Amino acid sequence: MTLSSEISELVVVTGASAGIGAATARALAERGFHVLAGVRRDRDALAIRGPGVEPLILDITEPDHIRALAERVAADPRRRRLRAVVNNAAVQANVPIEVFPIDEWRRMFEVNLFGQVAVIQALLPALIPAKGRVVNISSVGGRVAMASYGPYAATKFALEAVSDALRREQAACGVGVVVIEPGAVRTEMLERAIAAAGELVSTMTSEQSVRYGALVHAVNNQAASSTESGVPADAAAKVIVKAVTARRPRTRYPVGREAALIRWLPLLPDRTLDRVLATALRSHYPAGDRDTSNLLCYK
Ligand SMILES: NC(=O)c1ccc[n+]([C@@H]2O[C@H](COP(=O)([O-])OP(=O)(O)OC[C@H]3O[C@@H](n4cnc5c(N)ncnc54)[C@H](OP(=O)(O)O)[C@@H]3O)[C@@H](O)[C@H]2O)c1
Repeated sequence: MTLSSEISELVVVTGASAGIGAATARALAERGFHVLAGVRRDRDALAIRGPGVEPLILDITEPDHIRALAERVAADPRRRRLRAVVNNAAVQANVPIEVFPIDEWRRMFEVNLFGQVAVIQALLPALIPAKGRVVNISSVGGRVAMASYGPYAATKFALEAVSDALRREQAACGVGVVVIEPGAVRTEMLERAIAAAGELVSTMTSEQSVRYGALVHAVNNQAASSTESGVPADAAAKVIVKAVTARRPRTRYPVGREAALIRWLPLLPDRTLDRVLATALRSHYPAGDRDTSNLLCYK
């Protein structure tokens, strides 16, 4: 149902070319918002354009793009208020810490953290008078850092910290800050992550292959099986719409049953959690490595 006040409001969604971002842009437009949908290519702009969805070329690592976004919001021809920004764009690659090149660490932080912060900084001047909302798409990886999720989890833990600080800073200004924590969602992200990991893993030394080859294989298998049973992007979009529209939103929303459980795991003692995660991964190792999965480093 569309509330009449929503018709006159803007929402910015980053990373709207695919997956959760595209589904969210469409779902918000259906609710009557005018969505500024950030994409990086003309063909994606063409595909997402529709009633209530206006594409913008937005690579969140490009300062000029972010400046143009802020100008577009500030000079809205119909003087619509900015109800929310949905910081959704991100990249993923599940690679062990030793073999993820430091430039790749920096690139991942550029997109998953600094890009989000740059968008928030640029849009706060419009969000504050509107008493708008920042909705940051984190992950269960922002709560629990599994083996080979180090780089991605580091960006998402950091995004959780930024979100907490921002919520406390903005409380007096009336800007709400909400974190969305999806578990597995069926999107292109897994394929992209496996492709990115595949490229990096192919450059491992033979010692590193012995140390991590089976782990990477197991993590990819586990991710593939949880993505297969994950929720569709529309289910994530539904939760994000709630975060944008609820009168008194919660500070965090999980997406999917798996996420609702995983977010409590950090309450376990560290060593117990290590064992729980290792046990969950064991059945995904190549058959010959299953019993020795925790000994591979010493082969
Ligand atoms: N899928 C899951 O299981 C899952 C689970 C937990 C959390 N999440 C989170 O949910 C969000 C959306 O993920 P998804 O599954 O929908 O992934 P996806 O299908 O891979 O989409 C990622 C989006 O981010 C965009 N993007 C990447 N780099 C960008 C940049 N530098 N500037 C602007 N946009 C950029 C991509 O644009 P291009 O097409 O141009 O590359 C794409 O639109 C992410 O924050 C992700 O971490 C997903």
